[in-house]
Amino acid sequence: MPKPQVERIPTGVPDLDAIIEGFVKERTYLISGEPGTGKTIFSIHFMSKAIKNGLKVGLITTEEPLDSILLQASLLGMPLDKYVGNELKVVDTSLHRAMEASFATPTGEYLIQSFRDLQRAIPPGVDCVVVDTITPYFLPMNPTMARETATEIVTTMREKRLTALLIMDEAVDAHVLRAVAAPVHGYIRLAYQHDPYTTRPIQLMYVRKLRATKTPNHPLRYELTGTGLIIHKEKLPLE
Ligand SMILES: Nc1ncnc2c1ncn2[C@@H]1O[C@H](COP(=O)(O)OP(=O)(O)O)[C@@H](O)[C@H]1O
Ligand SMILES: [Mg+2]
Repeated sequence: MPKPQVERIPTGVPDLDAIIEGFVKERTYLISGEPGTGKTIFSIHFMSKAIKNGLKVGLITTEEPLDSILLQASLLGMPLDKYVGNELKVVDTSLHRAMEASFATPTGEYLIQSFRDLQRAIPPGVDCVVVDTITPYFLPMNPTMARETATEIVTTMREKRLTALLIMDEAVDAHVLRAVAAPVHGYIRLAYQHDPYTTRPIQLMYVRKLRATKTPNHPLRYELTGTGLIIHKEKLPLE
């Protein structure tokens, strides 16, 4: 029996694609990590590669404003500015969110109060969606709500035939994080750790689950560099 063909979309992180062969098309993935671990940079790789491959991308940003993401992308040599409005359709809710937090006033058209609104805000005509981050929507939830909501978004993305990257920082309760990780197709966690021998801080990528994909059974050591996320070749004697 020939193996079934699975259509894939690169993660855009070159060393990672060499290992896992990319995400499965039209499925939803979760990336989690503490602040500064490289979640947004991961998504910049993903968006840049998808656009280079002729796909259209929707970016919903909730906390970091678009100009800051665009600056980071340019500094890493993956400029996205020129695509905004065409190949890259952006919904920037960060300013409205910030205004709401500081003045508690009714806000503009892009205010997204719930995850339902967020799903409705997905720009039409895109192939991929990045939500950076979903944290504000999940912070107030208990694990049961989080699981139901995550299941709903996974189903919606699949129905809309979208490949989605959901980014969540680890400010949320660990049970909520686990609840969101359950219904998604894959889950990658970025973490700071200490090297057990030198005690120096190192950064590790845990590929926690990737359905229908060859998955490394050890954490991948990575670095954030001037050209983005780079994965070390060595195997780590951890876990
Ligand atoms: N040119 C660079 N060289 C090395 N590290 C960088 C460079 N640019 C950004 N970084 C690192 O990337 C981090 C930001 O990554 P980001 O993806 O925004 O994190 P997150 O979204 O997880 O909070 C910065 O805190 C910095 O440590
Ligand atoms: Mg970020």
